[in-house]
Amino acid sequence: YNISSETVSESCPSNIALIKYWGKYKDQIPANPSISYTLNHCKTNTKVEFFANESFSVQTFLAGNEEDKFAEKIEKYFRSIEQYLPWILKGKYIIKTENTFPHSSGIASSASGFGAIAKCLMSLDETFSGKKSEEESLKKASFLARLGSGSACRSLYNGLVVWGESDEIEGSSDLFAVKYSDEEIHSVFKDFNDWVLLIHEGVKSVSSTVGHGLMNTNPYAERRFQEARENFVPMKEILKSGDMNSFIKLVEHEALTLHAMMMMSDPAFILMKTGTLEVINKIWDFRRETSLPLFFTLDAGANVHLLFPNDGSEDKIKTFIESELLQHTQKNGVVKDVMKF
Ligand code: PMV
Repeated sequence: YNISSETVSESCPSNIALIKYWGKYKDQIPANPSISYTLNHCKTNTKVEFFANESFSVQTFLAGNEEDKFAEKIEKYFRSIEQYLPWILKGKYIIKTENTFPHSSGIASSASGFGAIAKCLMSLDETFSGKKSEEESLKKASFLARLGSGSACRSLYNGLVVWGESDEIEGSSDLFAVKYSDEEIHSVFKDFNDWVLLIHEGVKSVSSTVGHGLMNTNPYAERRFQEARENFVPMKEILKSGDMNSFIKLVEHEALTLHAMMMMSDPAFILMKTGTLEVINKIWDFRRETSLPLFFTLDAGANVHLLFPNDGSEDKIKTFIESELLQHTQKNGVVKDVMKF
């Protein structure tokens, strides 16, 4: 190659699933389709310096600190995608990356992280393979991000995003994510808050890789995969009609089912903490008393994503969160995001 070095910088947000992906097959093929919201404010910014024609090596810095474990992970990832980017092992990399949200906060930094790296790789690819259309480039970035961390493939698009083949979603694929059509979404879902309560900031006891693997021997797995597929039918209707109560029911059911699957694994594990359950119960009490649309979803961790629309009720909800829920968090930790599209 006639270039000697190239520097690219990209930014990518994280996402939170509404219908959850939990369980996968070989080559990062999801056992069921999932749909997520992109968290616009929770981003990873990544700079990749590539030195062509040097022997392959990867050096990584996380928020300024050199991290060998992360470099090993990236090296392995680059080796695994050589068939899709033939130039990738022909040089040396220095990768500097930082998140705009707290580390280990239960906000998927692997999703934004692999999303940002995949975008950087597609930028470098233009140098070697020529310019692609934006659509083509995003699709390939989503494909590559998936091979790093499954849910990362959904972070390439804004708004609602679907990954995994579903009869309900035209163009959906197990190999990359697709944007859910904005025209099919009622306006109440287009201006939404996602506040993440930081219940527990420590490292998770069971990684998502191990968690996915335990679905292979979980006797309830097939039923769960089927349920997730079926949930796309009501989800589509709800998104179109703006039926908030049904949305709340479905989203909370999905979150609790994810954690129920963990409890029914062998060996069983629990990622929720006491604070997680206290917050859930308080949300339910609040809804019973006020009928206001505050609800939750959970990722593979203890932290609680509080969801509520900007529909005029948000001030009352924010007051409740600040007075009743923050006491269950570590250091009053809350990460606020607004999803407008
Ligand atoms: O992308 P992974 O392998 O870290 O899996 C993440 C799975 C969940 O976050 C629990 C659910 C989802 O669909 O994002």
